[in-house]
Amino acid sequence: MKLNLAVLALAVHSVASAATGQQIFALKRPDRRALTPGEYTFLQTTDTHGWFEQSGETYFGDWGDLASFHQHMKKKYPNLLFFDSGDKHDGNGVSDASTPRGHYSRRLFREMPFDAVTVGNHELYNTEVATLEYEEVSQHLGDKYLSGNVEIWRGEWRPYGNRYKVIERSHYKDGKTRRILTFGFLYDFDLHPNNIRVTKVRDAVKQQWFLDALDNEEYDVVAVIGHIPLRSWEFPQLIEAIRKRTKKPLVLLGGHSHVRDAVQLNGEFDGPSDVYGIQGGRFLETLGWLSLNVTGQESTSSSRSYIDFHIDGLKFHASHDPDHSKWDTALGKSLTRQLSRIKKKLDLKEVYGCVPENYYTNGAKFPGPSSLLSLIADEVLPTLNGTAEGATGDRVIITNTGGLRFDLLKGPYTRNTGFVVSPFPNNWVYLPNIDIHTAHDILPYLNRKAHILGSGHMVPEEIPQECDMFHAADTKGLLPGYVTLDDYGHDGDDTPHWALPYYELPNAIQTEMPPDDVKYVDLVFYDFIAPFIQEALYALDRPDYFERLTDYGGKGLNELLKDYAEEHWECRY
Ligand SMILES: *[C@@H]1O[C@H](CO)[C@@H](O)[C@H](O)[C@H]1NC(C)=O
Ligand SMILES: *[C@@H]1O[C@H](CO)[C@@H](O)[C@H](O)[C@H]1NC(C)=O
Repeated sequence: MKLNLAVLALAVHSVASAATGQQIFALKRPDRRALTPGEYTFLQTTDTHGWFEQSGETYFGDWGDLASFHQHMKKKYPNLLFFDSGDKHDGNGVSDASTPRGHYSRRLFREMPFDAVTVGNHELYNTEVATLEYEEVSQHLGDKYLSGNVEIWRGEWRPYGNRYKVIERSHYKDGKTRRILTFGFLYDFDLHPNNIRVTKVRDAVKQQWFLDALDNEEYDVVAVIGHIPLRSWEFPQLIEAIRKRTKKPLVLLGGHSHVRDAVQLNGEFDGPSDVYGIQGGRFLETLGWLSLNVTGQESTSSSRSYIDFHIDGLKFHASHDPDHSKWDTALGKSLTRQLSRIKKKLDLKEVYGCVPENYYTNGAKFPGPSSLLSLIADEVLPTLNGTAEGATGDRVIITNTGGLRFDLLKGPYTRNTGFVVSPFPNNWVYLPNIDIHTAHDILPYLNRKAHILGSGHMVPEEIPQECDMFHAADTKGLLPGYVTLDDYGHDGDDTPHWALPYYELPNAIQTEMPPDDVKYVDLVFYDFIAPFIQEALYALDRPDYFERLTDYGGKGLNELLKDYAEEHWECRY
């Protein structure tokens, strides 16, 4: 596919795409597609968000399996490169149930033998978390922690990680070493605390250290580990800046938007662009794979895959032979053991109730009986008891849907479930006595905005609405999962799936409006979305209302859900 600067910012192709071909149905689950290695081979994780384990049918395995997989793959492909594109918190109790956040998960993360990693926005929302990530992960990993545009205040502004690293690989038949000049960049993120500074990518690429690295280092390929969606505007800025100094092949490792995607740019940016990008999904569901052959070729050839994180598939790709070696390596075993100790310590398996059916985020129509959003708006939010004294009247509670991170699935509702569904700790605030007409107009205003209302979470746009053809077709025992269409086509998923339906969600939802004869209401919302409410009031010609902003008190959504589960979803074993 041809891309230009304007288009790059918008199109995101993945998750559940309808346009893929029939041949997918001819494949059954065991017919996994093999990976294609290359002179340069990149294995990527991104947006793990505290998921150190998957235990479903489609995805199954833990952090220890990942370490074992990596070690077996290194034996098979000694030149393998292993990168992570950031966002390690907010989405699972392993990272979020500890105080401070990430107390245990940082240790687990840094033991994975990545060749290089970069920082995501979720490491940088909070002063303490940002400091601990710097001290315990960045400083621990040393020159492997890359960051070209983030700095931290330590009495002076210091780079949050190493600016760049030249990684060497030397297991080649011609006996020559290959050098990969590797950078790490964060998207133009601005919701960080005062001890963090993020330089916009377009400015960072003008800095002398960046130009010097490209001009003076010896290298064969350039790689950028970005906590940046592949089709977001920052990458073209990076590509343009790099292409002014070198025509060597360029590899992008994207992240942040939680999709599987790959790009292949040729012919743009003055001549053969030779740019290849991979983005490996989210939550340890997917590993990204990208390989290049450069030497001795007329032009670079490349291949990409999305590896389902399932232990059977990992063994298949590693050609693991149970007669010859054990799957669990020493490191793998140790990480699995540490993970179960952490889960125990944090009581993550404590059961509060049993969810009777699946409630979906993007997988169900809203409003509707299977919609998690409907459950939250109609059943859970109304149980909020504020503690503010003046708040006695009728009320409307508004919440952003970006804070709901995952489906609520049938089965035990555990302490971990709350962190998976709604990981963000937030405080309720409110505006007392808003006239009902203004109150009516706020939600529509929020939902008209293209702007994103989720703690830095980008909702993929332009994704086909439904994939009925996958339901209609004979899926021959395939499991639900990703069906990805990218610049290379639709053969990237290593395991064929039928795609879950995908529905666009509103930015925000609210509880039922009080009856028509009510003239004034209290407007209750999370402090996180206060700036958006302020903007709405300004647009609705009532900026004065915002001056009434007051703490509302009461339990956060995570706790309200837990109470709801305890009260309504008794387990019947
Ligand atoms: C790279 O070359 C090797 C050896 O010819 C081949 O097996 C592999 O498929 C090639 N990979 C790519 C990405 O072209
Ligand atoms: C809110 O208060 C009511 C009445 O005191 C009580 O029955 C209910 O359990 C409380 N709800 C929550 C979620 O605390």
